[in-house]
Amino acid sequence: MTPFRILVRAPSNIALVKYMGKLPGNGNLPANGSVSLTLSQLATTLEMTLTPSPTWSRRWMPGVPKGGKGDSPALSPAGVERFLGHFDRCLSRLPEILENFKIPSAVPKCGEVVIRSANSFPAAAGIASSASSFGALTLACAGFVAYGSNEFQRRFKSDPLLRAALANLSREGSGSSCRSFDGPFVVWEGESVKRISSALPPLSDLVVITAAEEKKVGSSEAHARVRTSPHWEGRAARAEARLAAARGAILRGDLRLLSDIADADFRDMHLLFETSVPPFSYYAAGTTRILDFIESQDSVSITATLDAGPNVHVLVPQSEEAHWKRILSLEFPEYPILVDREGTGAEI
Ligand code: DP6
Repeated sequence: MTPFRILVRAPSNIALVKYMGKLPGNGNLPANGSVSLTLSQLATTLEMTLTPSPTWSRRWMPGVPKGGKGDSPALSPAGVERFLGHFDRCLSRLPEILENFKIPSAVPKCGEVVIRSANSFPAAAGIASSASSFGALTLACAGFVAYGSNEFQRRFKSDPLLRAALANLSREGSGSSCRSFDGPFVVWEGESVKRISSALPPLSDLVVITAAEEKKVGSSEAHARVRTSPHWEGRAARAEARLAAARGAILRGDLRLLSDIADADFRDMHLLFETSVPPFSYYAAGTTRILDFIESQDSVSITATLDAGPNVHVLVPQSEEAHWKRILSLEFPEYPILVDREGTGAEI
């Protein structure tokens, strides 16, 4: 018998004002609001199958789903547990969420669920995959309990409130994943996740891969440790002020201002890392050189940012993508560059 199968894709996103530091308690509620650009090809493809069985079981299996691109992530036992924990959370909460949208759903009582996923970006690229993978898992669970109905698929595409409700659920699995359900620009504040209008030209993200090692401090640990920095006090107010300014810059299409805000915010976040107790840093040998080079270009159209990692995300208008890719490759031939463009969020 052919198993019931759901296939989804969720992109990664890159924050310009960062989510760093959580409110006390569970649920990944952020200490400050953030804004990000949703990507398109740097994404997780996730497949969920249900095969009839007299008992209920669910498991994550390595392996690239049919139709997926890239590599299956090498999840640690703790990573698998966190992923399956979110699967359980989704199954218990989705019926009520979908009911609010008058979408019929049912959680099967028996059967064997197998989840497989693949990230289109190389595992060694050091790009955070939790945003795309938890986004994909949440959407697949919703499709699963709505038994893949056309109605669910149609509403997911057309109803921003449904996407926001699923984003909010995804946030409980991994905070930044809530910004991967819409795009290109998404603002996340507390339990609210919203796409915002933009007058900016369509953007590309050139990701300069400076180091391909596994991170020593995972982002969940980073969120906890930044609270020990002397600069933690005032962080939320600084980020909120930048968020307000960034919204205006995006709305008016002011790339220069957005670039200045993004620069100030990632440096603020990395200063927290470097002054935490004990301190830590994600900078690799090439990171500062690339940032200095970008600054020396003094170009209105180029924005650089770092996540909790050493790779530099260089955002430029799509019309200048080839130009900047060439310049960066000539200047830094030793570092591979992944090229992606802005996107509109997860798809089922
Ligand atoms: C540095 O979303 O990975 O990328 O909620 O613990 O899963 P958890 O953290 P995560 O944090 C990512 C933070 C960041 C900045 C950002 O994306 O805003």
